Formats: sequence, structure tokens, C-alpha cells
Amino acid sequence: MDRRRPGSVALRRLETRAAGMGILWPRLQPWLSAISCAYLDSARAPANIRPVSEVIVTGGCGYIGSHTLVELIAAGYEPVSIDDNSRSSESILDGVRRITGRRVSNHRVDLRDALLTEEVFSRHSGAAAVIHFAAYKTVPESVAKPLVYYDNNVNSLLNVLACTEKYGIPHFIFSSSCAVYGNAKELPVTEETPFGEPECPYARTKQMGEHIIQDFAQVSNAGFVSLRYFNPVGAHPSGEIGEVPFSRPDNLVPRICWTANGKLTELVVHGDDYDTRDGTCIRDYVHVSDIARAHVLAIDYLAKSPIANRHSPITLNLGSGTGTTVLEAIRAFEQATGRKLDYRIGPRRAGDAAAVYSDNRKAEVLLDWRPEYGLDAMMKTAWQWEQSGGRG
Ligand SMILES: NC(=O)c1ccc[n+]([C@@H]2O[C@H](COP(=O)([O-])OP(=O)(O)OC[C@H]3O[C@@H](n4cnc5c(N)ncnc54)[C@H](O)[C@@H]3O)[C@@H](O)[C@H]2O)c1
Repeated sequence: MDRRRPGSVALRRLETRAAGMGILWPRLQPWLSAISCAYLDSARAPANIRPVSEVIVTGGCGYIGSHTLVELIAAGYEPVSIDDNSRSSESILDGVRRITGRRVSNHRVDLRDALLTEEVFSRHSGAAAVIHFAAYKTVPESVAKPLVYYDNNVNSLLNVLACTEKYGIPHFIFSSSCAVYGNAKELPVTEETPFGEPECPYARTKQMGEHIIQDFAQVSNAGFVSLRYFNPVGAHPSGEIGEVPFSRPDNLVPRICWTANGKLTELVVHGDDYDTRDGTCIRDYVHVSDIARAHVLAIDYLAKSPIANRHSPITLNLGSGTGTTVLEAIRAFEQATGRKLDYRIGPRRAGDAAAVYSDNRKAEVLLDWRPEYGLDAMMKTAWQWEQSGGRG
């Protein structure tokens, strides 16, 4: 059953174009919100349209989770969040409501608590799918507190999988990461590239998560997709939701924005003597809304897949397929925003791979997924969010 709605797809395209052309969302928003609400309301009412399916989204108040709520609603789903807000605030759901006209409810539950987790699942036992975002993700923190990371990222996954099985929820999407590849020797990395030595406990929890799903899929009736995100950046073009760093950011685009905004005194480029085209590290940046949309496509894909394929989880790279150096990213920000960035070249940082970027053709073939946002729109939307206060 195709759950996409043409009107919502057109609306999203318009948003993307507007962002790409540098049109500020606030000017378009009143019009688009009116169209969106009218459209969603009309889609809710008639009896000849299928009942709205719930999707359980763990970590729905987080960065990627909140953007996925927007995409799920646009596609006609009714998402329900489970988030203990240990790394987020429920206020981000106000932004989701301003974009979609819908208030998503959040169950503030720690997913390590098996009983409380089951209680929530029992109230949404007819859900069409589970998307499991909830995890801790900060690399240096995982080095400092490995037990905290193993406890949270592994035990939450085990509880969520057990409930998915108990309530017969047919589709499960797992947030994995390009960190599973470690310091890959061959580029671009494909889904066949073997797991590398993990650079930190966080990366190991993602490898463990994929292994757990691989084993569990053999005996489960659900279908599984693990999505390996590369470097999600940017914010929703409305400026209503975006990334709220839990602590001082250690990834490039938030650091660029913080520097441009004066929250950081300087931007340090960690090394310019790598074997790359300008000596700085290469990463694969992909807009968070493109990542979010892939989750809807993954549910659609599982819904169409034969039951016989269930026991083989699918893994997919979600990247732009293009590598960007640190200096190119800085220039892209300057061009997109008209602001000059002060930076200095510092020493290399331990654990940084010289280059990582994706081969994303499998996601294109299986999901019909292609990133819609370019680097310019990633920078513009990140900066717009930062200027709005960036707090949700
Ligand atoms: N953002 C990235 O750069 C990136 C890259 C690759 C993979 N990922 C993965 O994607 C997922 C989402 O990442 P994000 O950037 O949105 O992170 P985020 O920190 O913004 O969101 C995670 C959410 O999960 C919640 N959470 C954490 N532990 C929980 C628990 N035990 N019970 C209930 N809620 C809990 C947090 O409060 C937070 O709202 C994570 O699994 C992350 O590892 C993220």
C-alpha cells in the first residue's frame, strides 16, 4: 500500500526549492501552513481513505527524530514519540506543530526501563512501524564513559526490539552510522565494505546494534532496515526545528555556526596535511530532512517486501555520495551566508580518518531515495536555525 500523498510531496518540494533559492521560509510559511493544514485535515476525514497508521519513534525529540516526525506526518502517518529528554527538550515538538499543524505526543520514558517501555508499546500496539533513534551519540563522551554508552545504546535497543516482537509490529528501522566502517581503506564505502575497528565505544555500540538486529531478524517476524547515516547537517527550512547541541559541539557545521555567531572564539581546522585535495579531512554531508525522508521510504519499502525476505535485514548508506573537505565546507558556508569565517589550522585530531564518503546507490535503487538538498541549502538552513536561537 502506497502511503505517500502527492500533495505533501509537492509541499515538501516547494520547501526544498525555497531553501535552495535562498527564499526565507517565514515569508512562505503562512501560505504553506494553510495549504498543509487544509490538506492534512481533508486527508483525515473521508471514509474511503485508509485509517492513519501510528509509527513509534524513539528519540522523537532529538535532531533527526524531530525532522522525521515532520516527514512522517507529511506522508500521512501519525507518529508517537518515546523520549526521556535526557538529550533534548519536548519544546521541539512545538516547532513540529508549527510546521505540520499537528501536536505529536511524547512519552517521557527511559527505554532502558523494560516495564515502562512495554507499557507505552501496549498503548500503541497497532503501530505500523518502529523507528529507533534513541541513543547517546557524542564520541568523546563515549570514550570517557563507555559503560554509560553500552548501557544506554544496547539496553534500549534490546527493550525496544522485545516490545516490537511482543506486539507484532511489522517494521523496524534502526539508526546506524558510517562510524561502523571505522577508518575505511577503500572509498567510497559501500554497504559491502566490512566493519572496521571502531574508533570509539559509540561506534562499537552501532556495530553491536547491527549485529543484534542481524541475529534477531533470523527468528523475528518483523522486517528490518538499518540506515547508516553519514554526516547529517542543516535544519528544517522553516527555521522551526534544528539541532540543539547537548554540549559544546564537536562536529564541523555546528562549530562553524557557533563561530559565526560568536559563541566560539575561533574555528580550528584539525590538520591540513592529509592526503586529500587541499590537505583537510573529507566528509560526506547530507541534509537532515533528506535523512528523515529516507525513514518514510524505508517503511514503504518494508511494507512492499515479500514476507520471505524478512529474515535478512537491509543495510543502506545515507550520504550525499560526495566528499567535501573542511576548507570547502567553510567556503560553502561563507558563500551561502555572506559571512566571513575566521579560522586557523591546528594539529590533527586523534582518531580522525582522512576521508569518508558514501556510495549511496543502494538507497537510490531500493528506496528511490536521492538527496534533494545541496551543500548551499545545508549551510543556509543551519545558519538560519542558529540565528533563530537554535533552541527549539
Ligand atoms: N546526528 C548524527 O550526526 C548521527 C550520525 C549517525 C548516526 N546517528 C544516530 O542517529 C540517532 C539520532 O541521532 P540524533 O542526532 O537525532 O541524536 P539526538 O541526541 O539529538 O537524539 C537522540 C534522542 O534520544 C533520546 N534518548 C537517548 N537515550 C534515551 C533513552 N534511554 N530513553 C529514551 N530516550 C532516549 C534523547 O533524549 C534524544 O532526544 C542516534 O541513534 C545516533 O546515534 C546520528
